Amino acid sequence: MADRIDGRAIAAKIEDETAEKVKAFSERNGHAPGLAVVLVGNDPASEVYVAHKIKKCVKVGIRSYEHRLPAETEQDDLLTLIARLNIDPNVHGILVQVPLPDHIDEGAVLGAINPAKDVDGFCPVNVGRLSTGTGGLVPCTPLGVMKLLDTVIDDMTGLDAVVIGKSNIVGKPIAMLLLEREATVTVTHIETKNLPDICRKADIIIAAAGAPRLVKGYWVKEGAVIIDVGITRTKGENGKDKLVGDVAFDEVQHAKAVTPVPGGVGPMTIACLLANTVQAAEALEK
Ligand code: GUN
Repeated sequence: MADRIDGRAIAAKIEDETAEKVKAFSERNGHAPGLAVVLVGNDPASEVYVAHKIKKCVKVGIRSYEHRLPAETEQDDLLTLIARLNIDPNVHGILVQVPLPDHIDEGAVLGAINPAKDVDGFCPVNVGRLSTGTGGLVPCTPLGVMKLLDTVIDDMTGLDAVVIGKSNIVGKPIAMLLLEREATVTVTHIETKNLPDICRKADIIIAAAGAPRLVKGYWVKEGAVIIDVGITRTKGENGKDKLVGDVAFDEVQHAKAVTPVPGGVGPMTIACLLANTVQAAEALEK
């Protein structure tokens, strides 16, 4: 049986450590670190994510400032809000939930966020820092994936890692982080030829394609480590919402370790957002 990597427990530990840092920051400064969360429109999945993020902020003592804007918000108005948050001394982190409505240029909006407050690590300055290994704030899901890997792999030097998915917020940054650890990284995606053959050689598989149960048992080498970033919402047999990962979990029990969905990467994303917010607040203190 593969070890089940318990993202909930690892995330809880990060949250406890973050709460300690929040307390110390608040004692030094007389106010808590602050995170501004901007949600434009009413995408149901985004609503759920944002609600979770705000709830966890409260739990660790971070002040959250919620900005809910209608779907028809003009880009200029959103940029004006970001400019205000960029200089607000009570705001140490800024998160603009994506996707944004189609009429808004996502690149322009993410690029307008002060890199020192960019707790998602999505702005071009932080993307550049990550790809050159020069610090900066690292995107939350990729950071969480690395922390999960660290619980089961001591040294990634020379290991074959396959990333399935090439998104800007998951696949590409994870590839950069794995490269920094000296892994040999192959970035693939849903159009890649011979994906099963490529995966079968991997010591590490990061499944982030958003394709339910894509990774089958025969794609996985004995003893590989698998991180499942996929979360597709489906209807279960009882009619209730059910989350399905990118990995056929029941078929990969010959792996060394695998993350479940739910309870794997999901909780880590939020824990890393909280940790990034404190990191940003501490850096702005100096
Ligand atoms: N949409 C899906 N995941 C994320 C995330 O980690 N951050 C933001 N801002 N939007 C998202």
